[in-house]
Formats: sequence, C-alpha cells, structure tokens
Amino acid sequence: MRKARFWNRVARKYAADPIADMAGYEASLQRTRGLLSTEHDVLEIGCGTGTTALRLATSTGRLLATDISAEMITIAKEKLASQPIPQLSFALADADVPMFGTTTYDRVLAFNLLHLVIDLDQTMAMAAQALRPGGLFISKTACIAEMNPLIPHLALPLMRAIGKAPHVQCLNEAQLRAALTRQGFQMVSVERHGTKKKDFRVFIIASKPLATDPPRVSTC
Ligand SMILES: C[S@@+](CC[C@H](N)C(=O)[O-])C[C@H]1O[C@@H](n2cnc3c(N)ncnc32)[C@H](O)[C@@H]1O
Repeated sequence: MRKARFWNRVARKYAADPIADMAGYEASLQRTRGLLSTEHDVLEIGCGTGTTALRLATSTGRLLATDISAEMITIAKEKLASQPIPQLSFALADADVPMFGTTTYDRVLAFNLLHLVIDLDQTMAMAAQALRPGGLFISKTACIAEMNPLIPHLALPLMRAIGKAPHVQCLNEAQLRAALTRQGFQMVSVERHGTKKKDFRVFIIASKPLATDPPRVSTC
C-alpha cells in the first residue's frame, strides 16, 4: 500500500533508534496506564514496532495493536515472540478504515500518529466508531505548526523530496482539539509531558460521550 511505503522502508531503523526524551515517554506511559484496567479491551492505532504496546499490555484485558506498515508489524511480532504477553496481539490495519467489523473498545490509543495521517477527520471518525460510549481516546501528537517555521516550510519538504520524511500535517494543538470535537469527543485533559526544552507534543485524553450525556455547548 502506498501510504505504508515510507514506513516499510524505515521500519528497521525506526526500531533501532533510541527514544529521544525517555523521561517524557515514561511520563506518558504512566499517565496512560492510570487510565487502563485489566477489564479493558484496548485498540492501538499506528503502533509502529510495538514498543508502547509491549509496555502497556499487562495493564489491559486485551490489547490489539495495529499499524499500516507490514514491516513495523513484523518487527512488533518478533518482539512479542521473544517476550510473550497473552493479552497482546498485533495486526496490520489502516487507521483510516473501519477496524474489524463491529468490535468496539474501551480505549483507543494513538501515539505519534495523528500528524502523519492523510485525512485527520477520517482517522478521528474511525477512532470514534471503534470506541464504546464512555470510552477514552488517548493520544500524543507532534504539533509541527508550533515548531520553528523553517521545519515545516523548508526542512520537512526537502527531506520528503529525497524520501527521508513521510507525509506530515502541520497541526497545532487547537486544530487537533477541533478535529476531536468535530467527531463528538469531549476533552478530558490536554497535557505536555516533555522534559527537554520546549515540548511540541501534546498528550490529549478525550471521551466518547455516553448516549445519555447532554451535548456540550461551546462558549467560544
Ligand atoms: C512515528 S511512528 C509511531 C509509532 C509508535 N506509535 C510510536 O509512538 O513509536 C508512526 C506510525 O504510524 C503508522 N501509520 C501511518 N499512517 C497510518 C495509518 N493510516 N494507519 C495505521 N498506521 C499508520 C506508521 O506505519 C508508523 O508505524
């Protein structure tokens, strides 16, 4: 699939690269774990090589971690084979199309994905569809629009032209929140966990309202 080409090519390197801000990553893991229970069915979209899924799976009842890249999923399955966790499975899936029929989840996780999808509204709609009413969508996303303008307007297009960067959406926090709100999500918390200089990655927890929840009236 065309959307997966870049990620298939870089998967082995991605797996070998160290996490840039380990303390910030651990903070996000701890925050997410606090929102999980061993009763929960959890779906992760854009799981990459499964690093996060392997860390979170034992805090869930079942975690299905998915990615559009066959290479990423192969590496994730290799890791799982060397460190089996009964609750965890990996599968190839595009976050932009309905996932696995009518199955719904208590939590949907999307880490370092939303700035990379082609159609954010479509991805959000699929996440909303996959969640049970009252369920939580938990995400961490790079806000490229908050970076030095030379990055989105010069560095990334140049890198993309030579195949060194994927398609990237130049989003800010307000646009991400608006995309979630358009799909009916209610904002639970908006946080930043980075520990190094300015943190461009926003951690958002949003809930899918229960059928009985009254619609929220926006005041802005
Ligand atoms: C930056 S990596 C993040 C991987 C992992 N979540 C992490 O935080 O390390 C982005 C991942 O999103 C996947 N991806 C991109 N578009 C996708 C889509 N439409 N559906 C599912 N996965 C997608 C890529 O294949 C890649 O593995």
